[in-house]
Amino acid sequence: MSKSVQKRSPRYGATALVTGASDGIGEAFARELARRGYNLILVARREDRLRALADAVQSKYGVQARVIAADLGKAEDVERVIAATAAEDVGLLVAAAGFGTSGAFVEQPIEPELDMIDVNCRAVVALTHAFARRFIRRGAGGIVLFGSLVGFQGVPRAANYAATKAFIQSFVEGLRPELKQFGVDVISVAPGPVASGFAARANMVMGAAAKPGRIPREALAALGRKTTVRPGFLSKALEALFFGLPRGARTLIMTQVMKSMARGTAEGMPSPPGR
Ligand SMILES: NC(=O)c1ccc[n+]([C@@H]2O[C@H](COP(=O)([O-])OP(=O)(O)OC[C@H]3O[C@@H](n4cnc5c(N)ncnc54)[C@H](OP(=O)(O)O)[C@@H]3O)[C@@H](O)[C@H]2O)c1
Repeated sequence: MSKSVQKRSPRYGATALVTGASDGIGEAFARELARRGYNLILVARREDRLRALADAVQSKYGVQARVIAADLGKAEDVERVIAATAAEDVGLLVAAAGFGTSGAFVEQPIEPELDMIDVNCRAVVALTHAFARRFIRRGAGGIVLFGSLVGFQGVPRAANYAATKAFIQSFVEGLRPELKQFGVDVISVAPGPVASGFAARANMVMGAAAKPGRIPREALAALGRKTTVRPGFLSKALEALFFGLPRGARTLIMTQVMKSMARGTAEGMPSPPGR
């Protein structure tokens, strides 16, 4: 794909809101959008990293960037982000904040699993609802959400994480036709492994992984044209491998994949009760 500078699309206004901008894919999105001339509102918990990114894109690309430190696992913080951006002409929402866990579900503490549903699903639904309404009023807009390769079938040792990504995939597939008539584009970005802060937080080991920088270019090129984009060679290769297989067979393959990726217990699965 060409790396020539793409201009900001008038469909998506002057300002983009990017969650998860302090690391990985969200940070790569923020840099690419600034390069295209979008002003930015950057959201995550690590304010120092957001401020450093805001300073960097302001001086490099001459755009405006502001920071909202928020824990999107907390409903009140999500509401605060929505309220704090009400007066701005945001035309693009990139909801990249998210995390995963790995290992046998019953061996995980429950709090992070529930927090994951709040961050990966609840916050995404709340932000999408608020911004889709604003985009309908302005007659155009774009919403970029994050599914995953793991969201197309059940995945042992990442059962809850994969379920959060299946939720997003289904949400986008249902929402896109609803919003299309109002000029609002929605896409699910479903990468395979990407080298970012994700693996460390999920306690996973990733062998081959795509660089985050290519994800925004492919995703933005597909926004408005496709329901789902699978950026990077690896995700496309795995899609080809999975093509036509029933969900059960794909889960069997993902069982083997996660055996090599999940850290934790020796086999990553619990001992049966009574042993
Ligand atoms: N990396 C992969 O292999 C991969 C593959 C498929 C899909 N994805 C999806 O892509 C998205 C981005 O992941 P990534 O690879 O960029 O991961 P990452 O490098 O770990 O970045 C995750 C971002 O989410 C933010 N975040 C996490 N919890 C948050 C919370 N409670 N409140 C606010 N922000 C929070 C983090 O910021 P703070 O820690 O500063 O809050 C960080 O900016 C996720 O939805 C992930 O599920 C990733």
